[in-house]
Amino acid sequence: MQRTTLVQHIRQRGFSTPGATGEFTSLMNEIIVAAKIVSLEVNRAGIGEDILGLTGKINVQGEEVQKLDEFADLTFSTIIGQSGTVCAICSEEKDEPYIVPEEDRGKYIFMMDPLDGSSNIDVNVGIGSIFSIYRKISAGNEVTEADLRQPGHQQVAAGYVIYGSSTMFVLTTGQGVDGFTLDPSLGEFFLSHPDLRIPEQGSTYSINEGNMEIWDKEQQQLVSHLKASDPATQRPYKLRYIGTLVSDFHRTLLKGGIFMYPQDKNSPQGKLRYAFEAAPMAYIVEHAGGRASTGTQRILDIVPDELHQRVPLFVGSTRDVELAEKILSGAECAPN
Ligand code: AHG
Ligand code: MN
Ligand code: MN
Repeated sequence: MQRTTLVQHIRQRGFSTPGATGEFTSLMNEIIVAAKIVSLEVNRAGIGEDILGLTGKINVQGEEVQKLDEFADLTFSTIIGQSGTVCAICSEEKDEPYIVPEEDRGKYIFMMDPLDGSSNIDVNVGIGSIFSIYRKISAGNEVTEADLRQPGHQQVAAGYVIYGSSTMFVLTTGQGVDGFTLDPSLGEFFLSHPDLRIPEQGSTYSINEGNMEIWDKEQQQLVSHLKASDPATQRPYKLRYIGTLVSDFHRTLLKGGIFMYPQDKNSPQGKLRYAFEAAPMAYIVEHAGGRASTGTQRILDIVPDELHQRVPLFVGSTRDVELAEKILSGAECAPN
C-alpha cells in the first residue's frame, strides 16, 4: 500500500501552490524534526535523566514551568530559529517575541504553545504542542506589532502534535485537515487520517465543571441543557474532559461535540491564549467544517490586543457551537 510521509504530503502541496519558493516546506521540515525530538523525550520521560517535574520557575502566564515545558520550548525555538524561514518566534512560555537576527530572517512568523497540558505531564496523560504560522505583513525588514497581532484568519498554516498512545501530527495549510501518525521504528510521520471532517453534530461536551459556581448564568444553563434528557435531540450529552486542550480538541475533531473554556468570575477573558491555542485550533476546526467562537464572536476575526491575550473558546461541531451561542445569548432557555 502506498504510504505518504508528512514531508511528501507537504512537498506535493507546495508544488501545487503558485509562487511557492520552498521556504514553507523547509519550515515545516524543521517543525517535524522538533516534534520528533519532543516526542522522544515525552515517551521516555521518567526513564533516565530527570525530565519530569517542575523547574521551580514561573512563566509569563504566572504558571509553574515544568521541565518538559522548558525542553519543548527550547527545542522548537532553537531548531526553527536557525531555519532561515522565520523572522520572529512567539512562545506561550516567553514574555517577549524572539526576533531572529536580520541575516537569518525568513518571511514567516511562528507562534507556539510548545507543551500543552503541562498539568498532565507527570501523570502520563496525553499532552501536545500547538503551532501557528503567519506571513510577515509589514514592509521592510523590521518586525512590527502589526506582524505579531494578526487576526487568526490570516494564518498560513496551523497544526498540533499530540503525544498520546501514538504520536500524531495534525495539520492544515488552508486546504483541508490531515492527520499523520509517527512510525517510531522509521521515525517518519505517515498519512493516517486524510481529509479530516468534523461531524456536523456530536454527542459529547468537554468542559471543566469544577468551575460551575463561577460561570455566568447562561453558561450554567447551557451545560444543564446538554445534560438534560431528551432523546429527540440526542441528549444527555456525555462529558469527556482530559484537561489537555490538544487531547480534548483532537477527540472533538474526530468524534464531534463541543469543547468549551468559557470566561468565569476568576478569568473574565477565559484561560486559553488567543495566539497560541484558540486561533490555531479555530483555523483547524473551520478547515474541517466546524466552528469556533468566543460564544459571541468568530475566533478567527479577532485582532488580539496583546501577544498573550486570553479569550473564551467554544470549538467543535457547527450545530453544537451554534446551539451554545444561541443559549449564551439568552435566545433559547434550557429546560427547567
Ligand atoms: P498549558 O499546559 O499550555 O498551560 O495549557 C493548559 C490548558 C489547556 O491545555 C487545557 O484545556 C486547560 O489548560 C485546562 O485548564 P483547567 O485545568 O483549568 O481545566
Ligand atoms: Mn496550552
Ligand atoms: Mn503550554
